[in-house]
Amino acid sequence: MGINPTSPESYFPGRFKDKVLLITGAAAGSIGGCTAIRAAKEGAKVACVDIKENELQATVDEINKLGGDSISVIADVSKPAEAERIVTETINKFGKLDLALNAAGVMDGNDPTKPQDFEKQGELLPSNIHNASDEYWLKVFETNVHGVFYSMRAELNQMLKQSNGGAIVNIGSIAGLTGLPGNCAYSASKHAVIGLTRNAAIDYAAHNIRINSVNMAQTDTPMVFRAYEYVKWMQEKGKGSSMAGAKSQSLLQIADENHRGSTPWEQAAIILFLLSDDAANMTGANLATDGGWTTY
Ligand SMILES: NC(=O)c1ccc[n+]([C@@H]2O[C@H](COP(=O)([O-])OP(=O)(O)OC[C@H]3O[C@@H](n4cnc5c(N)ncnc54)[C@H](O)[C@@H]3O)[C@@H](O)[C@H]2O)c1
Repeated sequence: MGINPTSPESYFPGRFKDKVLLITGAAAGSIGGCTAIRAAKEGAKVACVDIKENELQATVDEINKLGGDSISVIADVSKPAEAERIVTETINKFGKLDLALNAAGVMDGNDPTKPQDFEKQGELLPSNIHNASDEYWLKVFETNVHGVFYSMRAELNQMLKQSNGGAIVNIGSIAGLTGLPGNCAYSASKHAVIGLTRNAAIDYAAHNIRINSVNMAQTDTPMVFRAYEYVKWMQEKGKGSSMAGAKSQSLLQIADENHRGSTPWEQAAIILFLLSDDAANMTGANLATDGGWTTY
């Protein structure tokens, strides 16, 4: 029977047997959350990290229900001490760290744990440069750039200590490969994720630690559902970048009769390939997992 990567039922039994995987941004419904569930089905022990307590617990509950092994670590990876703690807690529970996925990310400066109120969040919303507030710029960078850096530093220190290689995947975005109208901080932050990925690939190749990134277009997660609401609100207010909609679909979306984007399960399939031994000859790759968005 063929494997259908868009289905939560697709997985390779035993592929990650005895491996310990740490995932930041693992709340239910997110790319990290779906990757955690599939990895656990494939035998991995998974340390799931997020700042959304209930949604994180939902991922861990799902894994436990399936007979998998996981822990939840509530932490804000934009704070260096908390990024250190996610590795310490992984080691305390599972004794080692083999693999990591850095998926925690934000599109604007709003606290993801709080309800959204676009009217009151003006200073924190996605912006072009001349209108951008310091707070919007800093908040996006704190999670997307500093958070990935702090997480990678903690993960790499542990992997170096173990002297047994490893693999890391960072999540960038099409906005790290191209510009994204009206989203200056997000786009710049995702270009930084690609820079960190390339640099780390060079520095840790000799230690047998492979580091790659995935860069998707629209993928059906809470982040995108929130972005839809934001765009709708902008349209109602007659606001927005004059270039918004200049490109709104990937090649596969255009070709699909229902114009579907990507699913988090599809992204999980690619991420887990990169973390698996099948990707033994891949490092420093910044893959466009974007249905052809950046091709045209
Ligand atoms: N969904 C898309 O269309 C899309 C497209 C391109 C890139 N991405 C990237 O994919 C990654 C995963 O996003 P997603 O689509 O699953 O969205 P999501 O919002 O569902 O998941 C991101 C998770 O990161 C968590 N998080 C945010 N800041 C954090 C912090 N400081 N510490 C710990 N956790 C934190 C959030 O609570 C959330 O659960 C992000 O890096 C995002 O930028 C998503």
